[in-house]
Amino acid sequence: MRIHRMVYRRLVPRRMQKKIHSRLIDRPRTRMIMDMFGITDSEWSIWSKEYSGTMEMLEKKKRKFKDSKDAGSIHWRQGLHLYCLIRKLRPDDMVETGVASGYSSSIILQALSMNGNGTLHSIDYQPDNEKSKVMPKVDDVGWMVPKTLRKRWDLVIGDSKKELPLLLKRLGSNHRKAMMHDALHPCIDMFMHDSLHTYGHMYFEYETAWKHMKKHGVLLSHDIMQNSAFEDFGKSKGAKRLLIDRNFGLMVKA
Ligand SMILES: C[S@@+](CC[C@H](N)C(=O)[O-])C[C@H]1O[C@@H](n2cnc3c(N)ncnc32)[C@H](O)[C@@H]1O
Repeated sequence: MRIHRMVYRRLVPRRMQKKIHSRLIDRPRTRMIMDMFGITDSEWSIWSKEYSGTMEMLEKKKRKFKDSKDAGSIHWRQGLHLYCLIRKLRPDDMVETGVASGYSSSIILQALSMNGNGTLHSIDYQPDNEKSKVMPKVDDVGWMVPKTLRKRWDLVIGDSKKELPLLLKRLGSNHRKAMMHDALHPCIDMFMHDSLHTYGHMYFEYETAWKHMKKHGVLLSHDIMQNSAFEDFGKSKGAKRLLIDRNFGLMVKA
């Protein structure tokens, strides 16, 4: 903890520290999320300090990629909510689609590492780097993710249309072996969509993940304003939906 605080102070400018710690906690939307998940002020404060170090490290890496504006990663504020939710909910298994450089994956993995529990299963296809707008030319999917965080990472390369059902089947059957239940036994605690933002693809991913999600599981989605898939899906399931920030939303499985 002492080392962490020292690194944090050295890396994060005072201005940024204040901005992160004090402003968000008074945001009505943040407060709603804290209340909904029972996150206390002191938990939020501790976790946002932890998050600051990770975020600064990622921003530094991002700056190396000169087209970083096009990196397509989630916003740091969205990342902070994501980080705190994972610290609170302590998922065993979380799935995300859409890794790109690995900004959101790094945030999730850092939170899991601090929890000392859980695995992140991510899906993305290896981009054609010559054409990719969201990846630096020479690097692989998830190039930003520090080596130290990779032991909790199960990275699947391929189209989520094909790979997501396969991954969930694999997780379901692992779980079944342990729990002696059927193949559709709920096996994931959290899911985050950030791959292809067409109505059909988003709806497909939500539906597929939802079937395998445990009770009280949380479904997060980036780019929910692109179309009405998030809204339509949530309504069809009667799920409580919250807008975390801009175009980042969550819903909870009752
Ligand atoms: C916006 S970026 C993800 C950014 C990442 N979540 C972050 O915050 O750093 C979208 C990614 O989705 C991937 N993608 C798009 N369609 C996909 C599909 N059908 N299956 C798997 N990955 C897909 C792209 O290759 C791209 O890397």
